[in-house]
Amino acid sequence: MHLDNWGLKAKKLGYRSRAVFKLEEILNKTNALKKSNNILDIGAAPGGWSQFVKNKKKDANVFAIDILDIEPIEGVDFYNVAVEELDSIDKILALKGSFDLVISDLAPNLTGISVIDEANIFELNDITLNVAVEYLYKRRGFFIIKTFQNSMLKKLKTKMSSIFDEVQFINQLHQKNNLQRYIYMEHLKNEQ
Ligand SMILES: C[S@@+](CC[C@H](N)C(=O)[O-])C[C@H]1O[C@@H](n2cnc3c(N)ncnc32)[C@H](O)[C@@H]1O
Repeated sequence: MHLDNWGLKAKKLGYRSRAVFKLEEILNKTNALKKSNNILDIGAAPGGWSQFVKNKKKDANVFAIDILDIEPIEGVDFYNVAVEELDSIDKILALKGSFDLVISDLAPNLTGISVIDEANIFELNDITLNVAVEYLYKRRGFFIIKTFQNSMLKKLKTKMSSIFDEVQFINQLHQKNNLQRYIYMEHLKNEQ
């Protein structure tokens, strides 16, 4: 389907972004959503992914954060805060170690200078990964993150594989020529 058609479909279904279809595709291939009650959405604006998980799992507790503000979403607890400052949100901090699913579509602003962009992407992915490790239930959590094809991806994957039992790159049907990569992880290793 053409990108604009995904946009139209999202609008028709009441979703704020066409990014919901990427998440839907990943969730359809896994059990992550079915088994999740506490969900954290990192880099959530304008809110498509949060809307989607709340719609599909009505009884879930969905928390979302972003450096940009969003229009409220019924049933989603949103905080206007950077991932680096997540511990400052008492309600989320109280659930440290009790999240079933962390999803992150976070993307930094790009400068167009690849060495700077790659370093920024890696740093933010690394911070998000560390947050997921701290906030997920040990041994049963799920983590989905968007990253980009670049020279740092191998290093990121190596770190993920040292932390999670399962690490999978999910091929996106409608994103074939794009540099975005989605990685699905489950079960923190024993020592985490
Ligand atoms: C592609 S958008 C997310 C789209 C969202 N998944 C949706 O479906 O509506 C990426 C988001 O990451 C956010 N972001 C970038 N750096 C961030 C940071 N340090 N902490 C939190 N959010 C950040 C951006 O503000 C942007 O809203």
